[in-house]
Amino acid sequence: MGEILRVWGGRPLEGAVRLPSAKNSVLPILAAAVLADGPVVLRDVPDLADVRASVSILRALGLTVRRRGEDLHLLPAAVPGWQLPEAPARAMRSSVFYLAPVLHRAGRVRMPLPGGCKLGPRPIDIHLDGLCRMGAQAACGEDWLELTAPARLRGMDYTLRLPSVGATETLLMAAALAQGDTVLRNAAREPEVRDLAAFLNGCGARIEGAGSPVIRVQGKTALHGARHRPIPDRIVAATVAAAVAGCGGCVTLLGTGEDPLGPVAGVLERAGCHTDRPAPECWRVQRQDDLQGVGLVRTGVWPGFSTDAAPVVAGGLLAARGDTVLEDTVFEDRFACAEGFALLGGQVCRRGRVLAVHGPARLAGARVRACDLRGGAGLAVAALTAAGASVIEGAEYIRRGYADLAGLFRGLGAQLQAAPQG
Ligand code: EPZ
Repeated sequence: MGEILRVWGGRPLEGAVRLPSAKNSVLPILAAAVLADGPVVLRDVPDLADVRASVSILRALGLTVRRRGEDLHLLPAAVPGWQLPEAPARAMRSSVFYLAPVLHRAGRVRMPLPGGCKLGPRPIDIHLDGLCRMGAQAACGEDWLELTAPARLRGMDYTLRLPSVGATETLLMAAALAQGDTVLRNAAREPEVRDLAAFLNGCGARIEGAGSPVIRVQGKTALHGARHRPIPDRIVAATVAAAVAGCGGCVTLLGTGEDPLGPVAGVLERAGCHTDRPAPECWRVQRQDDLQGVGLVRTGVWPGFSTDAAPVVAGGLLAARGDTVLEDTVFEDRFACAEGFALLGGQVCRRGRVLAVHGPARLAGARVRACDLRGGAGLAVAALTAAGASVIEGAEYIRRGYADLAGLFRGLGAQLQAAPQG
């Protein structure tokens, strides 16, 4: 259902916010739970639209899934299903994560081609190529995909064409229960890949090297259940920090883990923010001085500047004095939000993968439309910075990655209200 977000911007942010578990950890781990023969408990799972879609898929596959407070309790399917339900599978890219686990469980899997934010071409060729190298057979239709595994998948020594996060995670799940050993080279190194490996190892898998470009897996015949608390969401951290940059003020992030902002911290410090760690598991971000443009920021795979953080940092720097140029090397169409930034008064120029922001610019409330999850969050950050009232249409995209963005920022003194699209 359509949703709008009303924002009354122009106020500094003050207070503290506890980071939720990372969406991009929770989603592959929920799929990996299909591999477990016993009960799985995931702690602090945010109530995201993509989590709800995942729960629908898991239940359709025969698992029992119950939410108990912030935790999700899963029990294995008595008879494992192999067909993913159409609507939830089409609603997100993460349905691709079910290929390997269901193949292991049921010997076959059928799903519609995955959906997800339109960020440019998002093929799944590396997922499929790796699975077929392990012995799967793939058949594709107009908009569906079916894989069968006549025998148990076999381990392999495989070099990924590019360090795809999702393909690394698919092949980790495939290797965990494969016959023999697997080596994945040119693997993605993101913290969420490490977290999936930690969950699988907690289930009895034998994975070494996750977080490095070479991951080694000893295939097991079975995995037991586990209790796991996913890592905190570094993109939510970047979103809040970018809003502090734009609005000014001082916010403490709680439950942050080691390094919640990564390269984003350095970029925001160049913009005039100050970050420090007042206590373990806490990060404080503040901006009292003038906001400055930061020059060229190029996104990249971990440990580079996250592609997902680019739109929110752009939103926070629209009013900065001087220039910021963001280039996304990961997706072709990351900056669909540029149109909304311009309507809010930002002096932006978008050419393909590059978004140039010139300042200073006087931002004022406007009616804008979100086209994807992080672009929508970037528009919310920009609207918080702008003086006056804004309306963000298409705010349902934002719910895919933020359980309650309006409530999060209201807790920091901002004025936002989510409402159904009239
Ligand atoms: C994951 O998407 C994240 N999603 C994305 O976050 C994130 O932006 C992305 O990794 C990069 O960090 C989840 O984890 C659920 P990729 P994924 O495979 O796995 C190409 C968000 O907003 N590619 O690393 O889809 C692809 O087209 C979302 O939270 C192939 O060519 O990203 C893209 O250009 C958005 N063939 C590049 O690799 C493949 O088989 C990176 O994609 C797979 C990917």
